[in-house]
Amino acid sequence: MKKTIVFVIALAMVASMLAFAQKEEKKAEAKVDPAKELASAIERGKALFNDPKLGTSGMTCSSCHMAGGTKPGKMGQMTIDPFDALGAKYPAYFMMAKRVMTLSQVINWCIMNPLKGKPLAWDDQRLADLAAYCASVKQAPEKQEKKE
Ligand code: HEC
Repeated sequence: MKKTIVFVIALAMVASMLAFAQKEEKKAEAKVDPAKELASAIERGKALFNDPKLGTSGMTCSSCHMAGGTKPGKMGQMTIDPFDALGAKYPAYFMMAKRVMTLSQVINWCIMNPLKGKPLAWDDQRLADLAAYCASVKQAPEKQEKKE
């Protein structure tokens, strides 16, 4: 009888130790910093923005979206507005494709048309990186500069 009790207690201790070890492992996994991950996606997207290898026309995104999309650009007669908080704008009607698109679809549209490249697959990290970069560009409203 005593032996059984000791055995049960020992078993319970082992079980709780295992549970503790598992929790510690989860904690280590949780160390991924989402803000840091986003910041590096934006950095990679910024590099892709100047990468002619996305297409075959020799153009990059910066050929039309000046200064990384922070300044207005020109295409023939058309003025291209600088990017501004695109994460909040899309999905929206995209004039040039004459339909509603997500931000990723707009990016692929620009890859396929001006850049004459192949569209990126929905789960291609480069598409998320480009979208992260484009969405990160915000025009600073003068009013916001007054910090009170
Ligand atoms: C030949 C010029 C040209 C190139 C090169 C180009 N785009 Fe565009 N892009 C446009 C035009 C024109 C628009 C439509 C602008 C508008 O509606 O104000 C546009 C719109 C966009 C928009 C939506 C902007 C908004 O304000 O709603 C995004 C995002 C975008 N492009 C991303 C890209 C990316 C990423 C690349 C590179 C892969 C790229 N573009 C390459 C011409 C270009």
